[in-house]
Amino acid sequence: MRIGILNSGGDCPGLNAVIHGVVGAASKLGWEVVGFRDGFEGLLPDGEHVLLNPADTVGIMKLGGTILGTTNKNSFAAKVGTNNLKDVAGRVIEMTKQTLADLRVEALIVVGGDGSLGTALHLFRAGIPIIGVPKTIDNDLQATAMTFGFDSAVSCVVDALDRLHTTAVSHKRVMVVEVMGRSAGWIALWGGIAGGANVILIPEIQFSLEKVAERVIERENNGHHSTMIVVAEGCKMPDGEVVTKEDGGYGPRFGGIGEVLAKRVGETTGKEVRACTLGHLQRGGEPTSLDRILGARFGVKAVELVRDGHFGSMVSYQAYHVGSVPIEAAVHKLRSVDADGEVVTTARSIGISLGD
Ligand code: F6P
Repeated sequence: MRIGILNSGGDCPGLNAVIHGVVGAASKLGWEVVGFRDGFEGLLPDGEHVLLNPADTVGIMKLGGTILGTTNKNSFAAKVGTNNLKDVAGRVIEMTKQTLADLRVEALIVVGGDGSLGTALHLFRAGIPIIGVPKTIDNDLQATAMTFGFDSAVSCVVDALDRLHTTAVSHKRVMVVEVMGRSAGWIALWGGIAGGANVILIPEIQFSLEKVAERVIERENNGHHSTMIVVAEGCKMPDGEVVTKEDGGYGPRFGGIGEVLAKRVGETTGKEVRACTLGHLQRGGEPTSLDRILGARFGVKAVELVRDGHFGSMVSYQAYHVGSVPIEAAVHKLRSVDADGEVVTTARSIGISLGD
């Protein structure tokens, strides 16, 4: 038996732990593993692949990024920037089937987020035996309580807030920290609470400038001359504007709301405000221990699903247990923060403003 693995979309701390888990579990069954490089592109002619032996994955659990490389663009791009899903072209599917047949790969494990799993579902429906593994720092996939990579991204935000806090206090400034997460506020909410933010703005709760300014002034009047504001990149400004950047023909990408908001808060409050965008720092570096363990468990489970013939399934984390769900339960609809949920209530109860 020979199986394939690829990761697709943005990279994410913990991807190498998944590869380690897959290769370890497969070798125990006496199976071979082919790793396809650069996402789905590795499945097309001239795409690269590599035979992965257990010896090749020694020590990779702690490494950030992915030893296989990845892309969220090109032939299979199912979702680009903030655009909708697109179908994979028929000739691309045929070439994929040919590659798998030529290499004698009997099943494919696809590690990806919403867009990549949408592609995986499409390929599965076209007859390719596929198992999905959920991956995204954004934590916005349906049908899994958590994705690996999220905890590492949150740790990055917390570390940044700890650092920015000291300089904000020294200069009596307001600091606006823009974090990733696309249209979901998970990174902002968890990172903001853990990092001691005073204001957390998430896409699920529309903020008003007046309320944000009110909190800054209230703190000022209480003798706290610095304020930490965390804003998720996917938030809408009060006039409905989503701040984006153009990405060389691939459509708009989130990014820039931190600067826009900082200017407006400065104008409204008269305070000195600085913006800091954490950007890809949140995706880089070593995975936390939680993400390493989650990744390895997901990888092992994916192999078990192949062994049991549960194609079209995705590994899923629910109630401390790693199980599975149909891929279609996880894609085409993002998992948002519950605006009235327990974590938001926790934030409010410890005095954090959500800007509403
Ligand atoms: O989906 C993960 C993510 O890091 C988002 O939080 C962010 O908006 C996007 O990817 C950035 O993508 P790129 O690496 O293409 O700039």
